Amino acid sequence: MNKSFIKLPAAALVLAFLALGISGCSDPKPVERNATQFDLVNTDDANQDIGTYVLPQDTSILNEPNADQIFYGKRLLNETKRLMPEHVGAAMNCNSCHISQGKIPLGDPYINSFNTYPRVMPRSGKEIDLVGRINGCFQRSMNGKPVPRESEEMKAMVAYMEWLAQNTPKNQKVAIENAGSIDTSLVADTVRGEKIYYAQCAACHGDNGEGLKDSRGDIVFPPLWGDESFNIGAGMARTYKAAAFVKYNMPMGIQTKGLWGHGNVLSDQDAVDVSEFFAHKPRPDFPGKVNDWPTGKKPKDARY
Ligand code: HEC
Ligand code: HEC
Repeated sequence: MNKSFIKLPAAALVLAFLALGISGCSDPKPVERNATQFDLVNTDDANQDIGTYVLPQDTSILNEPNADQIFYGKRLLNETKRLMPEHVGAAMNCNSCHISQGKIPLGDPYINSFNTYPRVMPRSGKEIDLVGRINGCFQRSMNGKPVPRESEEMKAMVAYMEWLAQNTPKNQKVAIENAGSIDTSLVADTVRGEKIYYAQCAACHGDNGEGLKDSRGDIVFPPLWGDESFNIGAGMARTYKAAAFVKYNMPMGIQTKGLWGHGNVLSDQDAVDVSEFFAHKPRPDFPGKVNDWPTGKKPKDARY
């Protein structure tokens, strides 16, 4: 028998294993969390190579004609509760969820926000612009009140996001993922979730999910449930949305593979279990819920 006949199937087998190793692996490829450069993608033609987005240094804000406005927006996103108490019901800042000031992959970055809106959102069933999207987070994630479109505060937050977009044309997107992937076919086990919570989360977020404030009342660790948390209309109140955040961002400040960073230690099942546990704890209602998902398409983890 010709030797190459035997070799051929062996090589095919190796190739098949390699292919399995790549496609059958459930772990997503690692994402460089502290990247400062990302590819740009043409949204009309994804194959077109159009260069790189470089994350700007905050010092470069000083070169902008509206530097004061951009810095004000940056402060508002960091210290929302303290600076805009009348619009924020929760003990939460925007950047309690938009990690590292909206500059980190899988941590709900703001980098594409200026160019992503207006767009039709399934939740509202209509076109929402950036101001509307920001107010969605005020009313749900911050359990607060919308901020007037023409206010200095709203204009400043939008200016910060516009600066972060660095003149990226409307038909281009920065290749940065807003959220990581999570296996939504997993069924949550809240008993396990409770154990994970008290082992890995309660040290910062509190035995009753209440978070922690400093002596001035500023937020050190944001609450995960209760009167001062986000309401049931927030994305974070949905098990799988929360799990996609938790898996890649929490617990925060732990050492993973020799690097101080956040998250990426829980399995998908852990993240789903602990998220179901805290997301379904008591929290404020959202009166506007009756208008959500008017055209159907309600996700299976919606709370109402
Ligand atoms: C409790 C967590 C939480 C808080 C607090 C929060 N957000 Fe969000 N925000 C989210 C989540 C989750 C999304 C949806 C991301 C997605 O679509 O995957 C989001 C989406 C957004 C988007 C759209 C991002 C995009 O490019 O599509 C903007 C802009 C935004 N938030 C701004 C704000 C502002 C401004 C505040 C403060 C007033 C705020 N958020 C507070 C969780 C939060
Ligand atoms: C070492 C402290 C620490 C630990 C431990 C920790 N977190 Fe957090 N968590 C934070 C901080 C701080 C923030 C706010 C984000 C920021 O400041 O960058 C946050 C934000 C959050 C948020 C979004 C804001 C909110 O209040 O809803 C969720 C959800 C969350 N954490 C869930 C968890 C879960 C689940 C665990 C356990 C698996 C966990 N965290 C463990 C410190 C921690």
